[in-house]
Amino acid sequence: MLRSHTCGELRLSDINKQVTLCGWVQKSRDLGGMTFIDLRDRYGITQLAFNEEIDKDMSAHARSVSREFVIQVSGSVIERESKNKNNTTGEIEILVKEFKILNESHTPPFTIEDNTDGGDELRMKYRYLDLRRNEVRKNLELRHRMAIETRNYLDKLNFLEVETPVLIKSTPEGARDFVVPSRMNEGQFYALPQSPQTFKQLLMVGGFDRYYQIVKCFRDEDLRADRQPEFTQIDCEMSFVEQKDILDTFEGLIRNLFKTVKNIDMPHVPHMTYADAMQYYGNDKPDTRFDMKFVDFKQVTSAKNFKIFDEAELVVAICAKGAAEYTRKQLDELTEWVKRPQLGATGLIYARHNADGTIKSSVDKFYNEEDLKAWSVTCGSQPGDLILVLAGPEDKTRKAMSELRLEMGSRLGLRDKTKFSALWVIDFPLLEWNDGDPNLLASLAGRWHAKHHPFTSPKPEDFNLLKTDPGAVRANAYDLVINGVEIGGGSIRIHNKELQAQMFDLLGFTKEEAQKQFGFLMNAFEFGAPPHGGLAFGFDRLCSLFGGSDSIRDFIAFPKNNSGRDVMIDSPSEISDEQLKELNITSVINHTVAK
Ligand code: AMO
Repeated sequence: MLRSHTCGELRLSDINKQVTLCGWVQKSRDLGGMTFIDLRDRYGITQLAFNEEIDKDMSAHARSVSREFVIQVSGSVIERESKNKNNTTGEIEILVKEFKILNESHTPPFTIEDNTDGGDELRMKYRYLDLRRNEVRKNLELRHRMAIETRNYLDKLNFLEVETPVLIKSTPEGARDFVVPSRMNEGQFYALPQSPQTFKQLLMVGGFDRYYQIVKCFRDEDLRADRQPEFTQIDCEMSFVEQKDILDTFEGLIRNLFKTVKNIDMPHVPHMTYADAMQYYGNDKPDTRFDMKFVDFKQVTSAKNFKIFDEAELVVAICAKGAAEYTRKQLDELTEWVKRPQLGATGLIYARHNADGTIKSSVDKFYNEEDLKAWSVTCGSQPGDLILVLAGPEDKTRKAMSELRLEMGSRLGLRDKTKFSALWVIDFPLLEWNDGDPNLLASLAGRWHAKHHPFTSPKPEDFNLLKTDPGAVRANAYDLVINGVEIGGGSIRIHNKELQAQMFDLLGFTKEEAQKQFGFLMNAFEFGAPPHGGLAFGFDRLCSLFGGSDSIRDFIAFPKNNSGRDVMIDSPSEISDEQLKELNITSVINHTVAK
């Protein structure tokens, strides 16, 4: 070993020990006869002291090093005169006797400090330098701890971690596949897994009744703060279980993670139906850290000659506690906010429930005092509250109100990152009509699309609706939502060949297409498939939630940017004509030649 200790471990109890440390120069200070260097490694920072009176040449040498040089020093641990209580090693320093530069460094393009001056792209380009920063390192340490605790918990429950292949055949999970050309099979492609879904089901047929895997998944979809093209799942599957068994087992995992990693006693996770989530929060992943539920205002606003409300499909209100003092300017600004094209509301109606008990609305022309009292009773407003009302087409208005609710929650400080509110959303619709979802292949437009995935079982009590009213069929599917983030989802699977074939038929696959794409699964179901189900948690999302960040990038060692690029290694990139020829991708060759 080139070192006897790390830069984070020496204390007063180590005084007089002879030690050797290695690390990076965080900063140096030259105080005349004494030179001090802060030496940093993964574990902390230790102060080094060079005394000119002891060794003049060495002190001069020490003064010549710059930030991020890698050095090795030997010396004795001594008590510091001016102690730094903010640093765990702040009571000691090393009086250096031997000093060696192990490697030099260019001046880094941004400061390697907690508050760095580097912008996002620059830090991504030099990610290996960003990794030296405390914040990034702590995030990856948290990720490591979460993975270890997950494995411990699942191992105790007899789950086996099994690796599944990465070069597979397309599994439709609602996004586009990344594909890999096969050199040995001309004109053919592997797909990278969007998840190990079909393999884990085959493992159940294979008798591995409790499987898990912390596994990379790949999806070619539009990126956002909580989406990366390659991301990690805690993927799980169990045999001989019903929905309740799965929810209980994995609620256990989540509560165990909160306890072991954050020392938080998470209460029992409540269940909410998809229908209720949509009705009260306008969203299938409600942030339940705060209340502010939707209130149907159609009844209480209609037949008062206010055309906008009378003609609207939906009139919906929320009551923002304690916001009656919002100024006209703030309300105008909020109105502009809901009118942005992303939300597309035509306007925002409000009523202030003033501290003196009076209620004043922005539509006083149409609604008298008594009408507004009815508004107040309906949404439970108290003096000091603000009632906000949106009206318009049902889906659009619900969506806009859902965003407005979140925005008001943020503005009123109700979305505290250190508070956690989890729920299981259950009874999702089995199918969704695809009107031309830009995240799906165009050829899938104008037909039913599996809301979760095609292997999800309908709820048995809705089987009879499959033929008559497919849109009304509920799935035996569930999502875990924490603080408004979809952390995971899963379902009880179809394990019967006929039902699976019926499902593919509903999704618009011909028998031949279904056989070609999923024959392997349907054939396996002819050999005694056990009843089974499972789920997958988004591991990056779980880590960022625990770490109090909205962006999963911060918890991935080498993430991609919003255009799906790794700006550090400059990928994706073109490949040589020779490689293209070997892979028989002639159309790309033509394309590049034309360019
Ligand atoms: P689903 O598609 O819901 O289910 O994915 C499970 C969880 O993975 C996370 N996730 C993502 N995280 C980061 N970036 C992405 N692009 C991304 N996409 C999804 C989410 C999500 O809840 N095979 C099924 C699971 C099952 O049925 O067992 C599946 O993959 O947190």
